[in-house]
Amino acid sequence: MNHIGPVRSPAAAGLGTVTARLRDGGTALLRPLGPGESAALLEVFEAMSLPARALRYFSGFPRMPAAMLAALSDVDGDRHLAWLATVDGKAAGIARVVRVPGSPTTAELAFEVVDAQHGRGLATLLVDAVTTAASARGIRMLEATVLPENGASRRLLDRLGLRGRVSDGLLELSGPLRLLDPSVIDRAAVVQMTCDNSSREALDIG
Ligand SMILES: CC(C)(COP(=O)(O)OP(=O)(O)OC[C@H]1O[C@@H](n2cnc3c(N)ncnc32)[C@H](O)[C@@H]1OP(=O)(O)O)[C@@H](O)C(=O)NCCC(=O)NCCS
Repeated sequence: MNHIGPVRSPAAAGLGTVTARLRDGGTALLRPLGPGESAALLEVFEAMSLPARALRYFSGFPRMPAAMLAALSDVDGDRHLAWLATVDGKAAGIARVVRVPGSPTTAELAFEVVDAQHGRGLATLLVDAVTTAASARGIRMLEATVLPENGASRRLLDRLGLRGRVSDGLLELSGPLRLLDPSVIDRAAVVQMTCDNSSREALDIG
């Protein structure tokens, strides 16, 4: 991965997005997905091929079921955190962590990038942002479930240090939340947009 490194972002000045550099030098803007913000979510879904949807949702849905849309847009910034990336003004990818019921410091990680933006490092940026936000919100363990043939996801989850095994045809991974090294996002800006100063002090943002 040839990210040049974090870009110091205008988010530090309260402008509400984190600017990040793609592997090929392009620019992505990242920000938290808002509660009930379904339009961006659908925009990303519509720009994913059926095979890509099958990798993400384990079914190649032609349309997003209403219950799934409701669940995925039920973001509250604590139980359920999601970050959206836009490229050239279009919604391009989302990464999320959702706390596991009964285990408040453990969260399930999932992510998707529109087909047209694959291979530019966007998922890596999104995962760096959402894991940074998750850490700042007190999440300490991550879980993820992917299809064994999902090479790009496996590579990214491996870089996070998640390990696991195949069960019923799915690869179930887990491990302590470790931030990507090296960082590819302006973590200070992500934390600033995620929580208050006291939480920021608790996070080693590098
Ligand atoms: C998985 C997905 C999010 C990756 O998005 P992306 O923006 O193309 O990913 P990145 O460019 O950040 O690459 C991530 C890593 O995967 C590697 N990678 C990319 N394509 C790969 C492939 N086909 N096989 C193996 N590794 C691959 C990259 O080299 C990078 O690793 P590196 O940092 O060591 O170089 C995207 O393919 C996608 O949306 N797939 C469908 C949905 C999905 O599978 N979601 C995950 C389920 S939780």
